[in-house]
Amino acid sequence: MKKIAVFASGNGSNAENIINYMRATGAEAEVAVIVTNRKDAGVIGRANRLNVPVEVMSRQEINDSSRMLDVIDNYGIDAIVLAGFLLMVPGFLIERFPDKILNIHPSLLPKFGGRGMYGHHVHEAVAAAGENMSGITVHFVSEECDGGRIVFQASVGIEPTDTPADIETKVRHLEQEHFPRVVVETLVKATEKV
Ligand code: GAR
Repeated sequence: MKKIAVFASGNGSNAENIINYMRATGAEAEVAVIVTNRKDAGVIGRANRLNVPVEVMSRQEINDSSRMLDVIDNYGIDAIVLAGFLLMVPGFLIERFPDKILNIHPSLLPKFGGRGMYGHHVHEAVAAAGENMSGITVHFVSEECDGGRIVFQASVGIEPTDTPADIETKVRHLEQEHFPRVVVETLVKATEKV
């Protein structure tokens, strides 16, 4: 059984979808811990309901290699998924988990990525640019913000009348439909081969 750590800063809908998907499909993987940098994050309530342990860690603790790697080792983590995690992943984790850290971004990267581009900011920028399409990008995490190798994209059409909230709803549907499966296909199969 591969053990996945999900890092999340917010509401946690993607974290919950991944947990439920792994349980429902009998995947050879489980979410062993949720790491969050916000003690009021919605993901904490979801994790409690689903009986998944949570580690609330400050930015300083996340960037402290001995503290962070203790958590990773305590839970026997094989791979990491960022699901609405708003801090940069420290370099020592990227070195420790080459091609085993995935992020989801709510646009068709390289468009609408980079620092400050998260959540509603992305959908507002997409609407303001008059795009006729948006989507999701799942990519490996590198030192460059939103810059790692892309493993999956899915797109959805946008109507001129769509508000940022409408775009978010469409993008969230794509996240729910694809992200858990892409996580399992990419990280679990990749770790099985090793
Ligand atoms: C998701 O839409 C995810 O794609 C986005 O944050 C949201 C988290 O929602 N991620 C980013 O913007 C990363 N730059 P959730 O907490 O309900 O999973």
